[in-house]
Formats: sequence, C-alpha cells, structure tokens
Amino acid sequence: MIRPLIICPMSMDDIADARRIERQSFAQTWKHKDFELAFDNGHSAIAAYIPGPCLENVLVAYAFCRRKYPRFKIVNFAVDPAHRRSGIGAAMIRRIANEALRDQCDEIIVTVREKNLVALQFFRAMGLEAGMILRNEYAETPEDAYVMSALPERILEMIEQR
Ligand SMILES: CC(C)(COP(=O)(O)OP(=O)(O)OC[C@H]1O[C@@H](n2cnc3c(N)ncnc32)[C@H](O)[C@@H]1OP(=O)(O)O)[C@@H](O)C(=O)NCCC(=O)NCCS
Repeated sequence: MIRPLIICPMSMDDIADARRIERQSFAQTWKHKDFELAFDNGHSAIAAYIPGPCLENVLVAYAFCRRKYPRFKIVNFAVDPAHRRSGIGAAMIRRIANEALRDQCDEIIVTVREKNLVALQFFRAMGLEAGMILRNEYAETPEDAYVMSALPERILEMIEQR
C-alpha cells in the first residue's frame, strides 16, 4: 500500500460516512441507530482513514467486533468500494487480530453469507476456515451462512506472509 493508512478506534462522528460505505456494500444495512447501539453496547469499533485533499482524515473502512469470550466476533466490516483490493481489509484484520489477543480472546469468528463470494475469498486469504453452516440464516433471503474462524496468531502469520 502506498498511501498512509491510519487505523484507530472509530468515532461516533463517523457514523454518517460509515453509513455511506454500508449502503454501497450490503443489501440489508445497519441504520444510524444500529451503529449507535453497537457503540453503546461496547463493541470494538475500528476505523481506517486516508488523508483527503485538504489532509483531513477520510473514512475508508470500519469494523465492529463483539467480545464473546473466548471469541472475538466480527459483526460488521466493510471497505469503501473505491479503495478495495489495496490491502485495507487485510490491515483491518491485522488490527482486529491484535485487539483479540490484547483482550485475551483466542478465536476470531465471522458469519458470511454463502453468496458473498468475495468475503469468503477474503477471509480465507486471511487464514479463516469455514466450519459450521447455518441453514436459512436470513429472514429476507433463503440463504445459508458459513461460520468462519481462526486463531488470531494464525491470521497474523497469514498476513505476515503476504
Ligand atoms: C471483503 C472486503 C472487506 C475485502 O476488503 P479489501 O480491502 O478489498 O481486501 P484486501 O485488499 O485486503 O484483500 C486481501 C486479499 O483478500 C482476497 N480478496 C479480496 N477481494 C477479493 C476479490 N474481489 N476477489 C478475490 N479475492 C479477493 C485476495 O486474496 C486479496 O489479496 P490480493 O489482493 O493480494 O489478491 C471488501 O471486499 C468489502 O468491504 N466487501 C463488502 C462488505 C463485506 O462483504 N464485508 C464482509 C461481511 S461478512
């Protein structure tokens, strides 16, 4: 990656920008109140920023994770479509793996829709493996989901090798 990328806790002031990325990324989206609720519930909210034209920080990715000891569950995660395939997703996953280790969680999990082939490929490339299948997981579409997981150390190792 060439441009400087800042990865740090997400601020509630970024919800509107995250909503824009969310709408471009998912058919069923988190609304403003869902983001607020995630902050209120103590989710780990991580953001990635790049410098904008006036050197202001522009949000390009966000992730929300819930600690369910001993698991660290990714519940929402997206990269701005204009900035995909440049390693931002991998940089976010590295941060998530480090937070999981810091919080003494020994497994990272994420539920991925069966038709979300890009996310399946992405998480596989990050070292997560598909385990349990959740049948008819979604109310709005007849779609199954895969529960993918990995040890945080395994993810860091995979990213290190890239
Ligand atoms: C999945 C997502 C987060 C990936 O973010 P990203 O910044 O593009 O990912 P990276 O550039 O770090 O990609 C890392 C690796 O993942 C894999 N990958 C990522 N996008 C891929 C694609 N479109 N096709 C195939 N493999 C892909 C590749 O192995 C890639 O490495 P490479 O570019 O060296 O080949 C992004 O596509 C996204 O936001 N999708 C919509 C939201 C979503 O589905 N979120 C997950 C919900 S469970």
